[in-house]
Amino acid sequence: MKPVHDKEVGAEENSREAPLPCSDADLLNQGGRQSGREHAEPSEGFAPVPTIVVIFICMLASFCFFYLEHNTHGFSGSVFDNEQGDAVAAGASAPVEETLEMRLKKGAKLFNQQCATCHQPDGKGTPGVYPPLASSPYVAGEPARAISIVLAGLSGPIEVLGNSYNNNMPELGSSLKDKQIADVLTYVRQSFGNQAEPVAPEKVAEVRKEIGKRSPWSAAELLKVHPLEAGK
Ligand code: HEC
Repeated sequence: MKPVHDKEVGAEENSREAPLPCSDADLLNQGGRQSGREHAEPSEGFAPVPTIVVIFICMLASFCFFYLEHNTHGFSGSVFDNEQGDAVAAGASAPVEETLEMRLKKGAKLFNQQCATCHQPDGKGTPGVYPPLASSPYVAGEPARAISIVLAGLSGPIEVLGNSYNNNMPELGSSLKDKQIADVLTYVRQSFGNQAEPVAPEKVAEVRKEIGKRSPWSAAELLKVHPLEAGK
């Protein structure tokens, strides 16, 4: 190779090396400049939470506590239990004796779900098809008669308030509990102008045990066991 070339190469090497930081001071300097562009190194240790955040969390916690305390009735599990909710909401710590008013409310709901499609919401029935419950002697008087009808159903000819019917009522004993039958009959016996005593769930249980599982009654058969009261 030509010496000129050698010289050029040497010169090039020199000029490349020149701007590079070579001393310790230069390196430190450059490191300083670089770290200035970066975030601070994460460090272990205790960094106190700002007081304002602590106060905010305390306020939030006490708000939650008071909110729950005032809206959950002492965290009682029965708050949303339909059977007991009313009693708990009324401020009682233990379930109280259900009032007649509460039973009538449940009875009305059951009537609308279970009976009103046939006997109509006003209890007057449909002429020639569904007999009325309003003023019906089958509803009033001895509760066991109406209980028996709801438990086992009724079919064949029947006369109600001077009108004849010959149709079928399905049994509801397998889908309704004693308490539900007692409530719905209590409602029926005290609505549509009817004025008869409430029906106790125990009475329904008694009749259910007595008649057992059976086919629907005929009116004649039922009246033999539970004749209509005198004057009806
Ligand atoms: C699917 C229609 C239907 C439903 C639902 C029904 N019934 Fe009846 N019910 C009848 C029919 C029909 C008769 C008459 C049966 C006959 O012709 O022998 C009757 C008769 C009766 C009678 C005796 C006759 C009278 O009018 O007093 C009573 C009491 C009675 N039902 C109560 C109820 C109650 C309470 C419910 C709801 C828990 C209910 N029924 C649900 C159709 C129904």
